[in-house]
Amino acid sequence: MSGWEELESRCGSCRACPLCETRTNVVFGTGSKEAAVMFVGEAPGESEDLSGKPFVGRAGQLLDKYLFAVDLRREDVYIANVLKCRPPNNRDPLPEEEERCIGFLREQVRLIQPRIIVCLGRIAAMRLIDPGFKISAQHGQWFRKGNFWLTAVFHPAALLRDPRRRGDQLTDMKAIAAKAKEI
Ligand code: URA
Repeated sequence: MSGWEELESRCGSCRACPLCETRTNVVFGTGSKEAAVMFVGEAPGESEDLSGKPFVGRAGQLLDKYLFAVDLRREDVYIANVLKCRPPNNRDPLPEEEERCIGFLREQVRLIQPRIIVCLGRIAAMRLIDPGFKISAQHGQWFRKGNFWLTAVFHPAALLRDPRRRGDQLTDMKAIAAKAKEI
């Protein structure tokens, strides 16, 4: 079995936390395994749990619009979440759920070796960039870690709730696309 197949199969049968009892599907991740840019959200929602694919609900459709607007194609990037299973009623992930699940994301990053990782929202940014990350003040900033650059943008679900942030989101997404071309 290849590294990817082994990882996906382990993730698909994971029972390390109670979310395995309530999930319909594990949402492992989709996109190019050679992606230069990787997007990381928080956890699957209802549509993702039902389909087994990340960011396919309303928030995902908005993400697709931004990808299209800055000329990044979904099939050329990789999209995954911190948690691979849906928390009941879309509550925030618990620290122990993140702890048990984060190894899968680490392995995905190790296999893909992206040049840029984009955190979608506060939860992913607090996990991947800094536990004290403030998304309103720090979105669009760049952080160098190991072999890649990290940044965070607003979670598309937050933009559905508060459309006033959509201009900032377009600016940040344009900067991400420009940096992907440059490095
Ligand atoms: N929100 C997320 O954080 N991830 C998804 O896959 C869908 C919605």
